[in-house]
Amino acid sequence: MRIGILTAGGDCPGLNAVIRAVVRCASADGIEVLGFRNGYRGLFENDFEELTRAGVIGILPRGGTILGTSRFNPTQHEESIPRIKENWQMHRLSGLIVVGGEGSLSAARDLCRDHALQIVGVPKTIDNDICGTDFTFGFDTAVSTDAVDRLHSTAESHHRVMVCEVMGRHTGWIAACGGIAGGADVVLVPEHPFRISRVCDLLKQRKQQGRAFSIVVIAEDAHPHPEEDFLSKEQEAAIYRHDRLGGIGEAIAAEIERCTDIQTRVTKLGYVQRGGSPTAFDRILATRFGIKAYELVRRGEWGHMAALRGTRIVSVPLEVAVGELKRLDEDIYRVAEVFFG
Ligand code: F6P
Repeated sequence: MRIGILTAGGDCPGLNAVIRAVVRCASADGIEVLGFRNGYRGLFENDFEELTRAGVIGILPRGGTILGTSRFNPTQHEESIPRIKENWQMHRLSGLIVVGGEGSLSAARDLCRDHALQIVGVPKTIDNDICGTDFTFGFDTAVSTDAVDRLHSTAESHHRVMVCEVMGRHTGWIAACGGIAGGADVVLVPEHPFRISRVCDLLKQRKQQGRAFSIVVIAEDAHPHPEEDFLSKEQEAAIYRHDRLGGIGEAIAAEIERCTDIQTRVTKLGYVQRGGSPTAFDRILATRFGIKAYELVRRGEWGHMAALRGTRIVSVPLEVAVGELKRLDEDIYRVAEVFFG
């Protein structure tokens, strides 16, 4: 028996832990594992390597993915599907594990449902925005950075507002949890369009109360409330691009400085949050997901993925995971809000 594995979409810490877990389980059963390079592209181009137990030694603490990744989506290139099927048959694959985010898992669902390919999924993303699982690995590492802590001391020394722009695509998980963990004074997320007047009032109030510095954490897709939109058409087009978000931090910092007269500086955490070694939580979660995915392959539970529910790892249909994003939990937002101002 031979199975395949690939990692697709944006990388995140913990991917190697999944690969290692799958290879360890498979080699114990005498099953071969082919690792396709650079996501679905490897399956399409027949670019692969054999993954052995010896080959995965030492990869657990490594960030990124030893297989490489890409955002190549076969369902958007219909002509790639016959090639993928050919390669699948040539290798006589009994199943494929796709480790991916919402886009890659949607493609897995389609390939399984519409083209009868035997696929199981593993949800991953620093954004924690996949339905059907309480957490994705990568998220804990992304919010465990001490970057927001570090901004406190320099903000305090200079009596400045520090705006910290974080990733998270269309949801505010990273901003809210990173903000709570880092003691932010204001957290702005896509789920709650913000009123710039309220933000500036909070910052001015803090100053009047003797707290002359503040930390504002803003998600890359946070939007001003339409009634108080201070962005020009050009700024909007540059910040909220379909394939790449970024720049709202700079825009809001300029507006804060203009309205409050408090010196304001910007830090964009960007890819720093996506790189590096996974936390213990992510290593454990990714390892458990890898073992579960292998179990799903052995049971032939195609079209399902490993997921975390409470403290248990369960099997969830891919259908549940795709189609819509898991928005920031309102309870978590309210926790962040307690500390505004
Ligand atoms: O989905 C993970 C993520 O890191 C988002 O938070 C971010 O918007 C996006 O990927 C960046 O993607 P890319 O690597 O294509 O620039």
